[in-house]
Amino acid sequence: MTPDADAASAAVRDRHVVLIGLMGAGKTTVGRRLAQRLGRPFVDTDDLVEETAGRTIAQIFADDGEPAFRALERAAVADACASPTPLVIAVGGGAVVDAENRRVIDAAGIVVWLRACAAQLAARVGDGAGRPLLAGVDGTAEALERLASLREPSYEAVADVAIDTDALDPDRVADRVLEEVAACAA
Ligand code: S3P
Repeated sequence: MTPDADAASAAVRDRHVVLIGLMGAGKTTVGRRLAQRLGRPFVDTDDLVEETAGRTIAQIFADDGEPAFRALERAAVADACASPTPLVIAVGGGAVVDAENRRVIDAAGIVVWLRACAAQLAARVGDGAGRPLLAGVDGTAEALERLASLREPSYEAVADVAIDTDALDPDRVADRVLEEVAACAA
């Protein structure tokens, strides 16, 4: 473990580190690296939903609609946060819109909001493949900008720490998360 990871690990002890933010914020990429550096498992609620349903998120949206996906997502958030093993958890970008999810996430540990401007998010999600809310939209950056204005109050309400990731690569974002987590839990 690097000294930063050591300090962060000691500071967060048995609490989860929960990553929130819009699609393209880097929750999964950064979350995996963070988990490795903290020596704990990584869980992505989107993966839990897909495992439970036995279908991709795109299929769930297409077959059953967004409300059905949100119900599965709520169960996945609750399951991940109930883990007795301290985790790094990445939650899908829309999960925090739900008040019950916010309550569960808030109680689970240290909540880190990964932020980026819409142009950067759009560049990272590319053609939005596998993300039904971006399928067929006329302008990914514009769609993400609209989601940002709708969701920012929810992210802000639950975040302990916010990190601007625009100019940072995933390893540097992980460094910043470790620094912030150590400071915030100290
Ligand atoms: C969504 C984000 C996605 C996934 C689903 C809906 C959203 O997760 O949960 O497509 O509402 O923003 P990521 O944020 O991991 O891409």
